[in-house]
Order: sequence, then structure tokens, then C-alpha cells
Amino acid sequence: STNQSWGGRFSEPTDAFVERFTASVGFDYRLYAQDIKGSIAHATMLAKVGVLTEAERDLIIKGLEGVRADIEAGKFEWSVSLEDVHMNIEAALTKRIGIAGKKLHTGRSRNDQVATDIRLYLRDAIDVISGELNRLQTGLLDLAEREADTIMPGFTHLQTAQPVTFGHHLLAWFEMLQRDHGRLRDCRARLNQSPLGAAALAGTTYPIDRAMTAELLGFDKPTENSLDSVSDRDFAIEFCSFASILMTHLSRASEELVLWTSAQFGFIDLPDRFCTGSSIMPQKKNPDVPELVRGKTGRVNGHLISLLTLMKSQPLAYNKDNQEDKEPLFDAVDTVRDCLRAFADMIPAIESRKDNMYEAAKRGFSTATDLADYLVRKGTPFRDAHEVVGKSVAYGLKTGKDLSEMTLEELQQFSDTIEQDVFDVLTLEGSVAARNHIGGTAPDQVRAAVQRARTTL
Ligand code: ARG
Repeated sequence: STNQSWGGRFSEPTDAFVERFTASVGFDYRLYAQDIKGSIAHATMLAKVGVLTEAERDLIIKGLEGVRADIEAGKFEWSVSLEDVHMNIEAALTKRIGIAGKKLHTGRSRNDQVATDIRLYLRDAIDVISGELNRLQTGLLDLAEREADTIMPGFTHLQTAQPVTFGHHLLAWFEMLQRDHGRLRDCRARLNQSPLGAAALAGTTYPIDRAMTAELLGFDKPTENSLDSVSDRDFAIEFCSFASILMTHLSRASEELVLWTSAQFGFIDLPDRFCTGSSIMPQKKNPDVPELVRGKTGRVNGHLISLLTLMKSQPLAYNKDNQEDKEPLFDAVDTVRDCLRAFADMIPAIESRKDNMYEAAKRGFSTATDLADYLVRKGTPFRDAHEVVGKSVAYGLKTGKDLSEMTLEELQQFSDTIEQDVFDVLTLEGSVAARNHIGGTAPDQVRAAVQRARTTL
């Protein structure tokens, strides 16, 4: 026999390397608070149904609180030979309170214990992440409102397309995050069921009260099937799916911030505190924060693939493979939380360089569609109008003139329906103001969209 908690049936100690290879305490110690919370709920329930005495329950709860205090004071010694967070805590409890500590694991398995711990951990993490997401979304709405009248070029294919307002562009980011937030809430709602009581895989012979532990732990209800409860980690996959999509959105925004801070665009300034310099080029100010967020998207995508691959061939019910769920999940949580924090801090500090944006919007014939729409309103079929404007643009390219810089006579070479009032639609202000419907870029629509969005946060 060995000194392990499961050593009864073994005739030699675990190989020293295998002990280290199979241990998870090096990372799952992070579940200590959830593990203790779950054990307190379990002991409370066992006393209520008469499996533990009230005195045993009280000893266990006091003991677990003592263990938690030790861990939080940095006085706890984690032991690799005790394998994981669960057995480390149980051993410390028994050392503190004696025989009652050995009764805690009655009617429970590490399989339902760890499933409970991860769900509790992820629920806490989701609440923190939701708070940061909210802070970022609020910052975007504030900035969009300030920039509702700021005109910039809108792009397709990264070529100047039509003028838009900067506020409108920021609200596009907001909408992406709004859907991400919905996915996060869905994930939380689906994971919030208690696996505790599933025990190893089949349930337990003790007269347990699963509804009671579910309620004590803030779950909506107990899970339905014990085999499923101990084996699936789809809630972690779902979280990582949310995380990957969110990071994809942050990465796209990051890419734009990087472009916009370049000398070639010059659309915005990021305050120095979000940038770093170069050790060789004295003039440099690099947008490191958005670059890193863009880069960290790769590792979060990797975690999603790790978890999907981890689950894909596992037969029911629990397999040790599942121990590999934690590092990807923890890192996805940490990365998403930090990226959101960086963005939420940075967005309100963006300074727009309105003159540069305006000048850029004037280049590239961004009001060409407005001229075509003008001709249509005067009775020209759209395809003919497209042709007329195409020729005007070709003329502008040859002569170096924007449409709004041509004289009426020059424009009339291409269509005699063009009159003096054409210049109202060829201005950037006229162009954006004309797109005045829900979802359009008109400044009034941007302000109205901000007001509607505020009520959803
Ligand atoms: N450390 C394990 C994990 O993370 C806990 C469950 C172990 N259960 C078992 N029967 N080996 O999954």
C-alpha cells in the first residue's frame, strides 16, 4: 500500500515521474475558493439529510474556512503528491480537524466536485468579463456621441467608398460587442446548473438533496443526467467560442486603430500611456496595446481548438483527459479579461484628428454615389447615372479635381440634367446627412442610435 488517498488497492508507490505527469495542482489550485465553497455546500446538505452530524458539519465548515484563510495568506503548502486542488484541500482539512475531515467526501466524487468547481469558476469569471465588456461598450457610446458629426472616409476593399461619420463607425464596433455580450449571457445561463450529486458517474446511494446544494451554490437547478454532468465540458467550449468571436472583433478594431495612428492615415492619436517607443528610432511611438490585442486573438482561437479536440473522442463518462480543460480555459479567461480592460481604458482616450479625416474623405471621389442618386432623382435611370458619374470621375482623375471642385459647366459635359443644386449633394456634410434612416450614418441617426443603445446596457 502507498500513502496516496486511493492507495488501498496498490502494491507499489506511483512512479515519481508519473506522479508529476498526472498532477494538476500546479494549475488547478486556482479553483480553491470554488472548491471550498462547493465542499461547504455539500457538508451542509449531508448534515441536513442526516449523513453527517451537525457537530461534524460545523467542524468541517470551520476547518475549510481555516484552510481558505491559510491559502489566502500564502501559508498553504501545495503538494504535488496530493495530485490536485481537491485532495490537497481535503488532506489539509483532515490534518486540522481529524476524523470528521475524512467524512466530507461521502456521497461525492472528484468527478462531480471538479465539474462543479469549474462551473462556479467560469460563472465568476463571466461576471467580471461582463463588467469589463459593459465598461468598454459604455466608452464606445460616449465616444460615438462626441464624434457624431465627425466626417471620415468609409471604406470597402480599404478603398475610399462613401463618407461616414466617425461616430457611426464606432457604433459598428458597439454592435459587434453587443452580440458578443448576448453570447456571453447565453453561456452563463446554460452553464448555471449544479452537477454536484452526480458523484463518480451514476449518482450515489446516500439520500442526498441535490436541489439544496444547487440552491446553496446559486445554481438555477441540478443537472438532469449524472453521466453527462461529470463528462461534458461544453460550457467551457461555449465560453471559448464567445471568447474567440469577441477577440476577432477586438482584433479587427485593433487593426483599424493601428492603421489610423499611422502617419499615412493620421486619423487618431492614442495617448502616450498606451504606446511605447523604439530603442533605436527616437521618433517612434508604437500602438502596442492594439497590436498585442490583435496578437492575443491567436492564442484564444488556439484554446477553442484545444478544447474541441480534447472532447471529440471521449467516451462517457469522466476521463482523465478532462484535466486538460483547465489551462486553456484559464488562459482564455485571463486573456479576454485583460484585453477588454486595455480596450475599455484606451477607447475613451482616443483623440480624433478631424481635419485629417475630413481631408481624406474629400479625396477618392467619395460623393460619386451621391451624384448618381442626384441624377436618379432628376429622372435618369440608375445605370445611366452610374455611367455619367464614371465619366465625370475619369475626367476628375485626368484634371486632378474632386467632383465638388468642378464647375457647373464641367459637370454638364456629362449630363445636361445637372444644375446648380448639385453642389448641395456633393459636399461631405450633405452626403452623410442624406443617409437619414435607422442604421444610416447621418449625425442625427448616430445620436438616436446612441440613445437607444444606452437603454440596453
Ligand atoms: N484533477 C482532476 C481533473 O481535473 C479531478 C478529477 C479526477 N478524477 C479522477 N477520477 N481521477 O479532472
